[in-house]
Amino acid sequence: MVPLPTMQWMDGFLRLLDQRQLPSEETYIDCRDIDSLAEAIRTLAVRGAPAIGIAAAFGAVIAALTSGPGEEFNEAFHSKIETLEGTRPTAVNLFHCLLIQKEIFRRNPGRENAVRALLKSAHEMMQSDLQASRRMGRFGADLLQSGSIVLTHCNAGGLATAGLGTALAVIYEAWDRNILTKVYADETRPLLQGARLTAWELSRAGIPVDVLPDSAAASLLRNGEVNAVIVGSDRIAANGDAANKIGTYQLALAAKAHGVPFYVVAPLSTFDVSTSRGSEIEIEQRSRDELACFEGRKLLPEAAGVWNPAFDVTPALLITAIICEEGVLFSPDAESIKSVLGKSSNSR
Ligand code: MRU
Repeated sequence: MVPLPTMQWMDGFLRLLDQRQLPSEETYIDCRDIDSLAEAIRTLAVRGAPAIGIAAAFGAVIAALTSGPGEEFNEAFHSKIETLEGTRPTAVNLFHCLLIQKEIFRRNPGRENAVRALLKSAHEMMQSDLQASRRMGRFGADLLQSGSIVLTHCNAGGLATAGLGTALAVIYEAWDRNILTKVYADETRPLLQGARLTAWELSRAGIPVDVLPDSAAASLLRNGEVNAVIVGSDRIAANGDAANKIGTYQLALAAKAHGVPFYVVAPLSTFDVSTSRGSEIEIEQRSRDELACFEGRKLLPEAAGVWNPAFDVTPALLITAIICEEGVLFSPDAESIKSVLGKSSNSR
């Protein structure tokens, strides 16, 4: 599988595949300043936890390039980083990558030094995300039988990462091994990441995909045709509770009720041990318009309110296993998560 061109560092700016226009148009936007990148993240031109983190890491390079010179350089840089931190609250990768970039900035004084070191670090994050995807793909595919049919939610593919994906990395690997028959993709209301993006990615790779309304997933699972549910995550708490796109929790409940394994695929950069349980994860609330309008047409009467959380939390108890680049954590809990994170920091 060739990585998707989700984002590319050009000479001095970041080029993003504009995911808002897919699947009708493959267009790119160029971010040369922090405001345009922050807007791209807020409006989901670039989205998906790892992709947001890496885009923000390149954003730190833009912040250094567009700050100063002079005494205000440090202050201006940090204020731009704060703008990026304020874009979306749930995906921890954003904060994780920016924390690394702030430390790199601190250790490399002067604009030229800082730009060079920040750029190197952003490219390394991109490479390590691709490597993690390949490893997660292999670990995940080992769990599938020949002839598997899987169900996924939202888009946890190349578009959501540096180019290969988390849940979809498993699907790509299973397809390459010839053990996958087809994929069901929840359409993922209200922004349709499943219908617009996952179906686009899988069709492009020649993988058969059927899209279903989110509300049909429980019936599909009851039919007994689906062998595994595979999703990504935006933040995994210390006890294994996992935040992901709204609708994931009800999918996990239905999978449990019908005895279908429920797998969460996420790199270690998505784990957040400073958050002890899922109820502490901040859930992004999105605007009324996303539910109240469709293609410029009003769907709701003025008097109706909306509740539009972008994510929900699946309790660890409903997760059969978390698949990360270090291996598979069956029945994940605080102990297994601590141990896998310890193992990975020792091997670095
Ligand atoms: O609002 P989005 O489109 O950024 O939400 C994305 C998801 O929920 C993904 O499933 C998650 O980020 C994992 S992506 C590898």
